[in-house]
Amino acid sequence: MAYSGPFQPGDRVQLTDPKRRHATIVLEQDGQFHTHKGMIAHNDIIGADEGTVVKSEQGYEYLCFRHLLVDHVLSMPRGAAVIYPKDSAQILVEGDIFPGARVLEAGAGSGALSMSLLRAVGDRGEVFSYEIREDHLQFAESNVDQYFAGRPANWHPRLGDFKEVTVDDLGGPVDRIILDMLEPWECLETAKNLLLPGGVFMAYVATVPQLMRVMEGIREQKCFTEPRAWESLVREWRVEGLATRPEHRMNAHTAFLVCTRRLADGVTPPRPQRRARK
Ligand SMILES: C[S@@+](CC[C@H](N)C(=O)[O-])C[C@H]1O[C@@H](n2cnc3c(N)ncnc32)[C@H](O)[C@@H]1O
Repeated sequence: MAYSGPFQPGDRVQLTDPKRRHATIVLEQDGQFHTHKGMIAHNDIIGADEGTVVKSEQGYEYLCFRHLLVDHVLSMPRGAAVIYPKDSAQILVEGDIFPGARVLEAGAGSGALSMSLLRAVGDRGEVFSYEIREDHLQFAESNVDQYFAGRPANWHPRLGDFKEVTVDDLGGPVDRIILDMLEPWECLETAKNLLLPGGVFMAYVATVPQLMRVMEGIREQKCFTEPRAWESLVREWRVEGLATRPEHRMNAHTAFLVCTRRLADGVTPPRPQRRARK
């Protein structure tokens, strides 16, 4: 899949009209795209640079760009709610997803996080994505395949319950584990057995009771560092002269992020010291 350069057959292209309405097409030699403002010839786009403007038969103008990953995630079909880009960005950085990492995630859901993980680990890394529901796994597979224009060789989507995964299933322990599911606290024993010492474990949970249970569960395992919890709030701004102000609407709450690291075997976690009350 090409990320840049002139458009080629097979590219997914987003066309934006002057009213900022989007349509996505896959370029084919001699292909046609019919709009209510007339036909657009694919050949007028193939070979052109990204950011070019193409005209329909009726002279209506469309701006052409390849889909960015965020465009794909927000427009692709979903079986389950996706991790929003603002949160996957946190996971990639706070979870320290590095080139060459072996990463295990569950559930795969619609495959949104899988794509960000695959891009971050690069060709030398591996991503194992477990999903308990067959229909959701199919969404994940089709979304990932479509984005990468084929199945990445280093992606291992698997139908199954995370709780039953063994080190042998993965060909060895992993560097990072990310859980996005209803009851991650039930998976902590398994995560403990699959994660290398020093490895990062993250959970993504929507509600306060889930947050409390997963934090307590991590502490009870006694093989992880004191977990951190936070949420990310992103507010867009409208910047227009004297009318400059924050946007009225935002996706305020999506979910809480929890992060901890696996201790070496046999180590007792140091007790977190709380400040004495005055
Ligand atoms: C919110 S979705 C995940 C979305 C995904 N992270 C994404 O970005 O597209 C949660 C998924 O976890 C799956 N799930 C729940 N419990 C599971 C388990 N024990 N093992 C594997 N998958 C599980 C559900 O079927 C559901 O598809």
